[in-house]
Amino acid sequence: MDKTVIGIIGGSGVYQIEGLEDARWVEVETPWGEPSDKVLTGTLDGVPMVFLPRHGRGHVHSPTTVPYRANIDAMKRMGVTDIVSVSACGSFREEMAPGDFVIVDQFIDRTFAREKSFFGTGCVAHVSVAHPTCPRLGKACFDAAKVQGVTVHDGGTYLAMEGPQFSAAAESKMYRESWGADVIGMTNMPEAKLAREAEICYASVAMITDYDSWHPDHGSVDISDIIATLGANADAARGLVARLPGLLGGARAPCPHGCDRALEYAIMTAPDH
Ligand code: ADE
Repeated sequence: MDKTVIGIIGGSGVYQIEGLEDARWVEVETPWGEPSDKVLTGTLDGVPMVFLPRHGRGHVHSPTTVPYRANIDAMKRMGVTDIVSVSACGSFREEMAPGDFVIVDQFIDRTFAREKSFFGTGCVAHVSVAHPTCPRLGKACFDAAKVQGVTVHDGGTYLAMEGPQFSAAAESKMYRESWGADVIGMTNMPEAKLAREAEICYASVAMITDYDSWHPDHGSVDISDIIATLGANADAARGLVARLPGLLGGARAPCPHGCDRALEYAIMTAPDH
């Protein structure tokens, strides 16, 4: 694996990659069922890119019904070495304001109605997700956001909730005050866990659209505010993505953090055990 192949999983508001050369939509079959959509492949600055709309074009999958295993497997089959997730989130911090981006580096996984592993039937594996994102890839995302002129926060804890409803005010306060979460969203888990099992580097660019429901001046999550902020952020997100090939480069050394060798350090039983 000596060449970079960048995979982008785009959430609400990000449905394509601009300037992609030789762009074409490709159907990928996986043993885990159909991915959310076809994948868009092409090259940008000479680096192969693979784009998958997380919710499908037309936004047909809810956070619970997104086929996460098929999506990550489709990326693997397309040779993706580095996945950048782009998604909307709410903020638990005054200083992390709507319109800002956060390069997430930790998760609290509160999802409960999703398949979370490629392993478990015949072959059991326990990979470490102590550090669920790739610092090298996260830094490239941070630098790309800076160059793009976005207010970006380097690190943050993302609480992944099942949804599709937003949080009650009491939950929002607990996540923020007792649990120390910085942002909240519905999709980055189990994506990050599955990417680690698939030995693909994973970074998450969370675009803040609202203050969830803890903020005294912002009552509850207003969907029209989210859509307005998403629209404003989409250009910046597309710009960030377009800068990644230049920052990551086409040649790829093994990940210094070992994301691409995660199974070497996992506890596994042999398939024929
Ligand atoms: N996505 C955008 N805003 C969110 C919020 N407040 N909670 C969960 N997911 C979100």
